[in-house]
Amino acid sequence: MHNAASVTLAKRYERIYKQLKELLDKPINRTSMMATITSLLHYKMPHFFWTGFYILDHGELTVGPYQGPLACLVLEKNKGVCWAGILREKTIIVPDVHVFPGHIACDRRSASEIVVPLFNAHDKVWGVLDVDSKSLNAFSSVDAFWLETIAKLLV
Ligand code: SME
Repeated sequence: MHNAASVTLAKRYERIYKQLKELLDKPINRTSMMATITSLLHYKMPHFFWTGFYILDHGELTVGPYQGPLACLVLEKNKGVCWAGILREKTIIVPDVHVFPGHIACDRRSASEIVVPLFNAHDKVWGVLDVDSKSLNAFSSVDAFWLETIAKLLV
């Protein structure tokens, strides 16, 4: 990404993060937090086409709060980008989803994707924050850094 563009992006994330810190500063359940995060990110980030959470539920990865077109409710086990994020416990940036082995296409307009695992206070992974874009190569280390920072609000 061009340097000036990544500075603009980082500044936008910084503003969103500040707003989220204020909004989520009081005791509130995780679902309300996730819903607030998805709404703010989705409507402030022009490159976000689908923005949401997948949550581990009795060994299944099931959809949580999201914004964007209808998504798969349950993701086939150990397949695709979200499951890779859970299994590797690391942020995954996929510049072109069509060449990611096992990618699950909930909407064929998605072209690139970033998945950030979520950890509880005992460092146990409990879900992922997933963002799709209609453009190829839409996500950079700036997105990874800020989405990981935002994900920590849910610990
Ligand atoms: N593409 C994801 C599935 C979820 S959608 O992107 C909303 C995957 O491969 O795990």
